Amino acid sequence: MARISASVYTSHVPAIGVAIDQGRTEEPYWQPLFAGYAASRQWMLENRPDVILLVYNDHATAFSLDMIPTFAIGCAPEFKPADEGWGARPVPVVQGHPELAAHIAQSLIQQDFDLTIVNRMEVDHGLTVPLSLMCGQPPADHFSWPCKVIPIAVNVVQYPAPSGRRCFQLGQAIRRAVESFDEALTVQIWGTGGMSHQLQGARAGLINRAWDNAFLDQLIADPATLAQRPHIDYVREAGSEGIELVMWLIARGAMADVAGGPPPRLRQRFYHVPASNTAVGHLILENT
Ligand code: DHB
Ligand code: FE
Repeated sequence: MARISASVYTSHVPAIGVAIDQGRTEEPYWQPLFAGYAASRQWMLENRPDVILLVYNDHATAFSLDMIPTFAIGCAPEFKPADEGWGARPVPVVQGHPELAAHIAQSLIQQDFDLTIVNRMEVDHGLTVPLSLMCGQPPADHFSWPCKVIPIAVNVVQYPAPSGRRCFQLGQAIRRAVESFDEALTVQIWGTGGMSHQLQGARAGLINRAWDNAFLDQLIADPATLAQRPHIDYVREAGSEGIELVMWLIARGAMADVAGGPPPRLRQRFYHVPASNTAVGHLILENT
């Protein structure tokens, strides 16, 4: 049986990808941010999964306003980095896991989560920046990500977005799906996006440290209560793009304690402002 070993949570600011791609991670502006992920990169080396279920949002890159799936799962053998306006990022092509992805799609749809199945898709900064933060830039002579990745895309760009409650339930269903896969795979689930940020309008630049840190506290200790929080709280307190945080509840819902197992072990917690217009938050929780 496959099992979920850990969940990782991280913001996904596009400028972080640019800083890595242009070799600027040691500049004073960026150095504290990347220093905050150094221990996590080491943890990734020591805890390499077979597959990452990477929950993220597409930013009108693969999907446009023409088609807006609420939840979509990437079942393709590979996913190319997208050109978001300045050329594709110089990062490896993401290798998928079509067998596990197809099994998860089957299981989730049978559990009444009607996911959209995606057989061809390019992936934007929402997916590639978290990989870069956690894995660093792969060496030129071995230019690939360290493991396979199944993209799980969530609409948080165009309302109506799914509720935190629905996301938390989806995470629980994903855990059941993974554990019913008949191969001994180690799987991590990542929840990405957030924390507080607003990119447009009168409140552009909004950051709310107190709210973000309370969110981290509650995500660790009491995610079931956090999942009841309505959208309007995220938007009022964490800004219009703060709604990306509902995706963290998908990863958290897939952890063992939610299904009656022991509480997870906190391996990493980091919070940093600023990165472009966004507060960056990061957690690693391990199943024990
Ligand atoms: C920024 C943050 C985002 O989440 C995003 O998708 C685009 C830009 C930013 O802070 O610049
Ligand atoms: Fe975003």
